[in-house]
Amino acid sequence: MSVLFEPVTLGELQLANRIVMAPMTRSRALVDAVPGSDMVEYYRQRAGAGLIVAEGTAPSASGLGYCRTPGIYSVEQMAGWQRVTEAVHAEGGRIVLQLMHVGRAASRHNKPAGATTVAPSPVRALTQVFSDSHGLVDTDEPQALTLEGINEVIEEYRQAALNARQAGFDGVELHCTSGYLPMQFMASQSNLRSDAYGGDADARVRFAKEVIEAMASAIGAGRVGYRQCPGNPYNDISDRDPAATATALCQAVAPLSLAYLHIMRSPLTDLDAFTLAREHSPHPLILNDGFDGLSASAALAAGEGAAVSFGRHFIANPDLVERLKRGLPLSRFDRKSLYTPGSAGYSDYPAFQAIAQELAQ
Ligand SMILES: Cc1cc2nc3c(=O)[nH]c(=O)nc-3n(C[C@H](O)[C@H](O)[C@H](O)COP(=O)(O)O)c2cc1C
Repeated sequence: MSVLFEPVTLGELQLANRIVMAPMTRSRALVDAVPGSDMVEYYRQRAGAGLIVAEGTAPSASGLGYCRTPGIYSVEQMAGWQRVTEAVHAEGGRIVLQLMHVGRAASRHNKPAGATTVAPSPVRALTQVFSDSHGLVDTDEPQALTLEGINEVIEEYRQAALNARQAGFDGVELHCTSGYLPMQFMASQSNLRSDAYGGDADARVRFAKEVIEAMASAIGAGRVGYRQCPGNPYNDISDRDPAATATALCQAVAPLSLAYLHIMRSPLTDLDAFTLAREHSPHPLILNDGFDGLSASAALAAGEGAAVSFGRHFIANPDLVERLKRGLPLSRFDRKSLYTPGSAGYSDYPAFQAIAQELAQ
């Protein structure tokens, strides 16, 4: 497994090893979408990763849609995140922030008053989201963005990238999958526009491309990555030809010297996402979904990517890198506390050393 523990450089990001922590929404933000002490501790514990991609975070109030997810558009949110990045850096880690605008995959019950739910077209996602005040609710009927509205959202992303850097993040990742706003533009079922942002694949990827360009112009392309999972149907998304759409985005951003493409394969499609990314993207690849230590090191040894990200294994194994290095057993996470408030099932999973000490007593 030694290749996993070798350093690697992705754009301007220098990673001590090739194990990346995948972004995971954990719904622990405090009131007004502000990161609190539990989040500081949770990320500090996982700083052994070569790179942490912190959870999907809203660039604006209208980008919120789930309960207790964080933002990066207010001074208070930036101060909360600054404590997180300082803690990770103090442990020698690197951390980027995933920018996630949920678009139509939202409930107004999870947004501050006055924040709207927007999408490329007025097509509701046939899915539900959880809210603390009303339980499971249908997603909102979205308002179609005007051309002016699109420019405003792109500007929100640009400002969010600047805010992230000011809060100490090493970079940002654009969430272009899982049926959120960029993917709503990319997919033919949710984008019925007839202007420059709708129609063929090149037009449908224009929004994501312009967001990536705006973020790169703000903080430097070498600190910007993006995430794709072609064919992922999550949040009621479907596309006539997901391979062609994913390829169009890879090609549209190819001229930029981006840090990486975080490419996720989905078990729900036959599409070979890794091969598609290797063939059409010039950027270093972070591979994701369903890896363990052995399969990750085999993929890297075969030259399939530059790094591998792990999601679920990081939940109950804050010291995942150490455990993989030493061949120690992995702990299993508790599904019931994935999205509940507070430290239980979040920042209270012990490192292996603590478990071993307890057993020895
Ligand atoms: C609790 C949970 C929350 C997640 N939240 C996000 C998210 O905010 N952004 C994202 O891009 N992916 C999210 N994902 C997907 C993970 O980043 C990752 O792609 C997935 O867990 C597959 O990787 P794994 O097999 O190593 O777990 C989430 C996954 C889980 C389990």
